[in-house]
Amino acid sequence: MDSASLDLVRRLRQRHHDVVEPQTFRLLGQEWDLLPGVYAPNLTPSAALYAQWLPYPVGGAFCEVGCGTGYISVLAAQRGCARVTALDVSPAAVENTRRNADRHGVTDRVDVRCGDLFAPLDDGDRYDLVFWNSNFVDTALPESSDAMLDRAFADPGYTTHDTFLRTVADRLAPGGRVMLGFTDLGDTGLLGRLAAARGWRPEPRRRAVGAHPDGELRYELIELVRA
Ligand SMILES: C[S@@+](CC[C@H](N)C(=O)[O-])C[C@H]1O[C@@H](n2cnc3c(N)ncnc32)[C@H](O)[C@@H]1O
Repeated sequence: MDSASLDLVRRLRQRHHDVVEPQTFRLLGQEWDLLPGVYAPNLTPSAALYAQWLPYPVGGAFCEVGCGTGYISVLAAQRGCARVTALDVSPAAVENTRRNADRHGVTDRVDVRCGDLFAPLDDGDRYDLVFWNSNFVDTALPESSDAMLDRAFADPGYTTHDTFLRTVADRLAPGGRVMLGFTDLGDTGLLGRLAAARGWRPEPRRRAVGAHPDGELRYELIELVRA
C-alpha cells in the first residue's frame, strides 16, 4: 500500500477514535445508533452504495459477516429477507447491531452473534446470500489504542480473507451467492490469487467512485463465483 493510501486509512481510523460517546446518524432516510469502537457507516460513502446494490434474497436467508452497526442486516430484514444472521468478531459491533435491530423492530428476524467469521453459526445454518464489507487493507496498521477497531480496517496478509474463502462454501444454500464489499485500498490481485486457490473467481458486479472526506475511492461490490 502506498503512503498516501496508508495516510487515508490512518485519518479514517482517527475519525473513528474521535467517536467517544454513543451517537446516532441518518442513512437512507432512517436513524441509526453508532457506538464507540464500531466501524462508522456515516464516515464513508460505501454504506449507501452497498445497501442499495445488494440483491437481498427476499423470502430467503441472508448472512452478513462483519455487521458493524448492523444497518445492512436491518435493511435486509426490512426488505423482505425471512432470516438474517449478523456476525461480528467485535462485541461492541454486536451490541450496536442488536440496538439497531431493536430500534427498527426487526429483532424477530435478525439473529446477532459474536465470533470469528462463521464460528458462531450452528452446523446446519445455510444462506442464500453471504455478504462481507471486508477489512480489505492488507497492511498491518501502526497499532492504535483499540485493537478490535483496527480489525474493522486491516487484515494483514489477508489471513482472515483466506479463511473466509476456504469456509464460505459450507454456508451456502443451493444456488447461494457470496459477495464482498471492496475498495481500491484493497489488494484485488492478492484477493484473486487467494480466491483461485480456494476455487473461486472474483467478479465485479457494481462499481462507483465515491467522494470520501479524505479523498476519492473506488467502491466495488464483488461476487465470488465458482472458478
Ligand atoms: C469494514 S467494517 C464493515 C462494517 C459494516 N458491515 C459496515 O458496512 O458498516 C468490517 C467489519 O468486519 C468485522 N470483522 C473483522 N474481522 C472479522 C472476523 N474475523 N470475524 C467477524 N467479523 C470480523 C469488523 O469488526 C468490522 O465490523
